[in-house]
Amino acid sequence: MLTNVRKCPLRRRGVEVSNNLKFKQPIFYKISEVDLREYAPTGIEGVDLMLEGYGIPRGYVVLVLGSPGCGKTTLGVQFLYNGVVKFNENGILVLLEEDPEMLKSNMLRFGWDLYRLEKENRIAIIDASPIRFITKGIKLGETTIGSREFQLLSLIEKIKKESERLNAKRLVIDSLSTFTLQYPKEVERRGAVLNLIQGIASTGCTTLLISELVGSSTERKYQIEEYLAHGVILLQRLLRAGGVVHAFMIEKMRKVNHDVQPRPFKITQNGIVVFPSEVIF
Ligand SMILES: Nc1ncnc2c1ncn2[C@@H]1O[C@H](COP(=O)(O)OP(=O)(O)O)[C@@H](O)[C@H]1O
Ligand SMILES: [Mg+2]
Repeated sequence: MLTNVRKCPLRRRGVEVSNNLKFKQPIFYKISEVDLREYAPTGIEGVDLMLEGYGIPRGYVVLVLGSPGCGKTTLGVQFLYNGVVKFNENGILVLLEEDPEMLKSNMLRFGWDLYRLEKENRIAIIDASPIRFITKGIKLGETTIGSREFQLLSLIEKIKKESERLNAKRLVIDSLSTFTLQYPKEVERRGAVLNLIQGIASTGCTTLLISELVGSSTERKYQIEEYLAHGVILLQRLLRAGGVVHAFMIEKMRKVNHDVQPRPFKITQNGIVVFPSEVIF
């Protein structure tokens, strides 16, 4: 366990971080000391420090909320990429919006070669975009079931199959919004999201469920998935006197005494970097 992290309060770490907005020191905790049976570290220093130095409790389904361009996809892919290269854990990426080829090509900019990881069966990318185009019911033997229900079932089946094939430990779904848009009625949406979360949870994978933020973060109407998920991470773009600031906030993470403050983050050429002791004014 991370005894040295507990002895070392976040604030002290942060002073060092805040000097020049760079991690001057080598990472404080040794990943090898994290109990990997209980936690899935994100491998992003600042994020894990906000989570008591441990990471996300295993098997949790964590909602990542944010407006477009905030870094949700980057965070998701970074979580999977780190899983493979830092923790030897395979991962599944479900794409409901972006084209897999485009995404893989974009991620090379961060130095993340998903082509290779896919070839090596470390990462599987499920292109679930056709879900958007099915409109009619599907005939299964004598019965026709609604296309939405069929889509949900087949998506969950596909995720399970791939996660067994790869013995995956991490899963990212990008994004839930495409899926939930098909359920304008609150009661149906609730059922569908519940089924999806249960289906995901049955894989045992630690999951990031990405979702577009509807409206501004302060005035937003809480969505049902925020109540159902085990954790909620909010990415925000804030306008300040000095320009745009990105804020990383852990709104909820059951079982973890997490940092509750919003912390600045940047998207760098190496991906997302969070500054866990910087304060946003
Ligand atoms: N190589 C890069 N270096 C720095 N920032 C980048 C790089 N590539 C993309 N970005 C930033 O990341 C943003 C997109 O992040 P993305 O994860 O796709 O957001 P979201 O999924 O929330 O829409 C871009 O708008 C850009 O600001
Ligand atoms: Mg995205």
